[in-house]
Amino acid sequence: MPALDKDKRHLYRLAVLFAAGILAFLGLRAVMVPKGFGRYGFFRAGALTDIRSLPISYAGRAACADCHSDIVDMRKGSLHAQIGCEACHGPLEAHAAAPDTTKPRLPNGRALCLGCHLENVAKPASFPQVDPKEHGDAGPCTSCHNPHHPEIS
Ligand code: HEC
Ligand code: HEC
Ligand code: HEC
Ligand code: HEC
Repeated sequence: MPALDKDKRHLYRLAVLFAAGILAFLGLRAVMVPKGFGRYGFFRAGALTDIRSLPISYAGRAACADCHSDIVDMRKGSLHAQIGCEACHGPLEAHAAAPDTTKPRLPNGRALCLGCHLENVAKPASFPQVDPKEHGDAGPCTSCHNPHHPEIS
């Protein structure tokens, strides 16, 4: 009997070690998992409220159209009509809410264009791109292209 006990002793030690490990895991988990985690799914339920309370910075193009219908008309039929106003003008919720007190800065009519149209082999060949050393002059692209209807023909 004592001989058998001696043979099992290392198993008891292992079992105690496992139990301690599991307890430590449960303890740490209780402390570290944020409140509300798992209520709706694999995320923290409170994150929804946090995100909802962030200030809105983009107004959306429908808002721009309310006051700038001339620009919307100008964009009709252009390949640029698909681009949101704020993709070029930046977030303008503050301006849309109070246009008299917050006047937007106009985008740079060269850097902005090259951000999308600078020639690069990684872009699909069908996307219109230019090498600014050869195309146009060193000045702003907007001296020849209307940003709201850039096609020249
Ligand atoms: C409630 C009406 C209103 C809304 C909404 C609005 N704007 Fe304006 N916006 C104005 C007014 C008024 C001016 C000033 C016009 C002026 O003084 O020439 C202006 C000026 C601008 C200017 C500067 C023009 C310049 O010559 O410097 C830009 C750019 C502009 N708006 C873009 C936008 C965009 C993009 C949106 C949508 C996110 C937007 N606006 C939403 C009324 C509005
Ligand atoms: C492809 C980029 C781009 C998009 C998309 C764009 N704009 Fe512009 N916008 C510009 C640039 C660049 C200027 C400055 C032009 C200049 O320097 O003469 C400008 C100027 C303006 C101005 C000043 C007045 C004028 O006619 O120059 C207003 C107002 C304006 N944009 C509103 C809008 C609205 C509203 C939309 C969406 C319906 C829009 N823009 C979409 C690039 C863009
Ligand atoms: C946010 C990215 C973006 C910016 C910024 C931008 N463009 Fe574009 N541009 C496009 C897209 C997308 C098209 C349509 C491409 C297509 O469908 O083939 C386009 C089309 C064009 C075309 C028509 C090309 C053709 O095939 O006829 C010209 C010209 C052009 N852009 C010039 C400009 C100029 C000038 C500026 C700066 C005022 C500018 N773009 C800023 C994305 C952009
Ligand atoms: C001196 C006038 C002038 C200037 C400045 C200019 N362009 Fe152009 N651009 C043209 C003309 C004209 C065309 C149409 C004929 C052609 O394809 O060369 C054109 C065509 C384009 C096209 C269509 C190319 C294609 O593959 O269909 C794009 C994109 C373009 N320009 C972007 C720009 C950008 C970005 C800038 C600023 C870095 C710029 N342009 C400056 C005159 C100009």
